[in-house]
Amino acid sequence: MKFKLFLAAATSVALAMGAVSSVSAQGDVIAERQQAMKDMGAALKAGKPGDVAPLAAKLKMLFPEGSTSADSEATDLIWQEWDEFVAIFDKLEADSMAGADARTLGGSCKECHDKYREQKG
Ligand code: HEC
Repeated sequence: MKFKLFLAAATSVALAMGAVSSVSAQGDVIAERQQAMKDMGAALKAGKPGDVAPLAAKLKMLFPEGSTSADSEATDLIWQEWDEFVAIFDKLEADSMAGADARTLGGSCKECHDKYREQKG
């Protein structure tokens, strides 16, 4: 009897830990993509538009469905229009690899932000 109780308690602790770690994993993905966005901005400022391509490729993986939070400016429209959203990253990546300048790339940044980012501050 005591042993069963212990097992039940251990299971619920394990479940609670699982829930906590999945929440923090989502927090990590948001922080990671915000950093990658900043890195793209820094690459453009540094006059290295070619450095944007690998970041754009990586960013496509950093928007798991529903990953938004009070700290995030990502809107739900992203997951409603996922194909269109990803197509802008694809264009950004292709343009960057093709040697496009910062102005051209900046057009894709703006296009996506206007539609899929809700600026909070
Ligand atoms: C396909 C969509 C898309 C493209 C393309 C895009 N962004 Fe973003 N960007 C977002 C979204 C969505 C957010 C909000 C992310 C969040 O807060 O979770 C964001 C946030 C940012 C931020 C704020 C990061 C922070 O610290 O909160 C910066 C800076 C930024 N983007 C720069 C850029 C630059 C520079 C480019 C172009 C080289 C670019 N972005 C291209 C969608 C995009």
